Amino acid sequence: MEYLKHNEIYLGRSECKMLEIEPNSVALSFWSPPYFVGKDYEKEETFESWQSLLRQVIHNHYQILKPGGFLSVKKTTSF
Ligand SMILES: C[S@@+](CC[C@H](N)C(=O)[O-])C[C@H]1O[C@@H](n2cnc3c(N)ncnc32)[C@H](O)[C@@H]1O
Repeated sequence: MEYLKHNEIYLGRSECKMLEIEPNSVALSFWSPPYFVGKDYEKEETFESWQSLLRQVIHNHYQILKPGGFLSVKKTTSF
């Protein structure tokens, strides 16, 4: 399998695209996910599908983070 290249920008659904990242290769993942606060890009989400999306993205981090790596989620200011 060919993994995503370093220093490139990719467009896609993170829960899918991140499966193409080389395992054990990420020291820090910093993300700002949808917060289910009524934004246009959340219109298709139910509360359950939004929770499922975040769970799936968090779950997918297990294979890509290096041992001791960090997953950091930006806190929203939209409330
Ligand atoms: C809270 S905003 C973050 C905005 C970003 N920090 C910025 O400054 O442009 C969440 C972003 O996640 C995108 N998004 C929603 N679902 C996504 C998904 N499944 N995969 C990747 N991005 C997604 C939305 O379109 C939106 O741009």
